[in-house]
Amino acid sequence: MTPYTAARPFLFSLPPETAHTLAYRGLRLAQRTRATDLLAERYTVRDPRLAVTCLGERFPNPLGVAAGFDKNAEVVTALSSLGFGHVEVGGVTAEAQEGNPRPRMFRLREDEAIINRMGFNNDGADRIGARLDRTDLPEVPLGINVGKSKSTPLERAEEDYRYTYDRVGEHADFVVVNVSSPNTPGLRTLQNREGLERILGALSDAGASPLLLKLSPDLRAKAIETALSVVSDLDLDGVIATNTTTERPESLQNVNRVEDGGLSGRPLETRATECVRFVAERTDVPVIGVGGVFTAEDAYRKIRAGASLVQTYTGLVYRGPSIAREINGGLLGLLDRDGFDSVEEAVGADLTK
Ligand SMILES: Cc1cc2nc3c(=O)[nH]c(=O)nc-3n(C[C@H](O)[C@H](O)[C@H](O)COP(=O)(O)O)c2cc1C
Repeated sequence: MTPYTAARPFLFSLPPETAHTLAYRGLRLAQRTRATDLLAERYTVRDPRLAVTCLGERFPNPLGVAAGFDKNAEVVTALSSLGFGHVEVGGVTAEAQEGNPRPRMFRLREDEAIINRMGFNNDGADRIGARLDRTDLPEVPLGINVGKSKSTPLERAEEDYRYTYDRVGEHADFVVVNVSSPNTPGLRTLQNREGLERILGALSDAGASPLLLKLSPDLRAKAIETALSVVSDLDLDGVIATNTTTERPESLQNVNRVEDGGLSGRPLETRATECVRFVAERTDVPVIGVGGVFTAEDAYRKIRAGASLVQTYTGLVYRGPSIAREINGGLLGLLDRDGFDSVEEAVGADLTK
């Protein structure tokens, strides 16, 4: 039994947001006390076969932390010491926001899933920018996820994204535009051509690079194709597939399935992998695959479907701090089994294009 499997019944007896806050405090403490070196020794799998070069950066391994876990960019070093190859912080919005009233995060244990309607609770671009200014950032690449403040009207969304980028952008190794969260009213309507061109165009003009677009898994094929044509027209650098879904698969067991919000975790895995494949078949820019990654096999499926990198959030909640070690170690075995010399060689192995 790992320390996390021992502690999990306790953590899971708490409301999910309380458990998250506790884990977050633990990570902050580890960071302050420099326990991160010990953690890194315990959890990091170092092997050149895992390294991926894309977006102008060298990622030591393909697995990163998805947006939403470190909304305020407070525990980047601690997360990297758990063996993750990159960390995406945020969603950051121009204004500091409380988010939606609690409870707003629900565990669906039997389903290995979470439903959340956090609503972009975060310290806001000014404070997060100042925090990043004084933080000693780790060597792994840092992504910054940018969302829209709730009070900013949709017609002026681009000003909001631009404001945030101007405050935090210099610290980002890549910038992610999030118009795919289901928890800010109307946000997802900005995923049409006009909305995307306005927001992505404004950030691109401001110098955001590499610039990636994060997609909703609920977009139909035509809408994804439209989004990809904007990515190509504006010469953007990558796509993240996917955010959480508002769909509720029939298979869900837990009573919390009726809660409003975005569903993540195991029930999203197949749909997210399909989206990765759909995108990778139609574009040459790197794809980051996210949704239901719990194991090396899950990560490998997304890589073979065309993901250069993968991310996890819900997997970290259910599997705990050793998830990166398990996935990276497991990936090495899968590469060996299938005769690949590196992760990079396996990217897109299942694609027919
Ligand atoms: C509590 C919670 C908060 C999230 N916040 C954000 C966010 O601020 N921005 C964003 O782009 N995605 C956010 N996400 C979505 C994740 O980054 C990820 O795309 C999604 O959860 C699917 O991955 P998973 O199945 O590994 O959790 C959030 C997810 C959860 C569970």
